[in-house]
Amino acid sequence: MNEETIRRRLLLGRSFITKFSDEEGVDEDYETDQTLKKPQPPLVKPPMRGPEAAIALPTDFAALPVDNDFLHVINSRASHRVYTQEPMSLLQISYLLWCCQGVKTLRGKSYATLRTVPSGGARHPFECYLALQRVEGAADGLYHYLPLTHELEFLGARDDLPDFIARSVSGQAWAAKANAVFYFSCVFYRAEWRYGIWAHAPILMDSGHVTENLYLAATSLSLGGCAIAAVDPAAANAAFGLDGREETVFYAMPVGTVRSSDKPQEDAFYAFVREQGL
Ligand SMILES: Cc1cc2nc3c(=O)[nH]c(=O)nc-3n(C[C@H](O)[C@H](O)[C@H](O)COP(=O)(O)O)c2cc1C
Repeated sequence: MNEETIRRRLLLGRSFITKFSDEEGVDEDYETDQTLKKPQPPLVKPPMRGPEAAIALPTDFAALPVDNDFLHVINSRASHRVYTQEPMSLLQISYLLWCCQGVKTLRGKSYATLRTVPSGGARHPFECYLALQRVEGAADGLYHYLPLTHELEFLGARDDLPDFIARSVSGQAWAAKANAVFYFSCVFYRAEWRYGIWAHAPILMDSGHVTENLYLAATSLSLGGCAIAAVDPAAANAAFGLDGREETVFYAMPVGTVRSSDKPQEDAFYAFVREQGL
């Protein structure tokens, strides 16, 4: 690639992040579909299978040993890539899903969902799919989260589940030992309806909230996870039946059981804070 092309690509990337208003003269007559009063897309994807595939998620979170020391959770959060492969419970999965995508209420009749994470214009353009293994109360296989009813729907088993997981995250084989891999897809039009050609940077901003909540929720249960941008969309989309254009997987996060000795050394952290005079 020549210097000029590299410079042009860099500027394009920068303007992707900074452009929320008109690119001089180019988009001044542009109106979004919401402004044009086109119908709003559905708030969530409808179930992909029949009601027999739906599993109600338990919500008695009081039964979980949640670390409620907020600062301790914040300071302990770290990326974990080593998992001990002990079982997890469906209640833990339910808690993690609630914390990163749970719907608290509807705004208007069906104008927006308000969730445990923020989202620009409350568009919440994401769907969450899971690969589960070693989760008590859930067969190993692929799932889709139904946030309006807080249910999981079973999409099917796979004989090659660990292989699939490794492939879906571009060969990062450590991920295949996680109990749960969260795959986040984007349904683009949900955000584009409101923000049109300016929708895409806010989509990425929104996704950071989702995985950070997932990191913190996992930490509060003494579990560990690691955000993954290096997904293989083709592998993940094929597994979940997504077309890759209107909806595509773009972000993932394995979560699993971790050894306490693999957890961040808090004493070291506080020594560092003291050393730095923070
Ligand atoms: C957007 C994003 C993408 C990431 N992608 C990967 C990845 O593909 N593979 C990986 O091992 N870690 C990935 N990470 C984890 C980072 O490497 C990690 O957050 C960083 O090294 C800081 O460590 P910490 O999370 O323990 O503070 C990603 C993190 C973020 C936020």
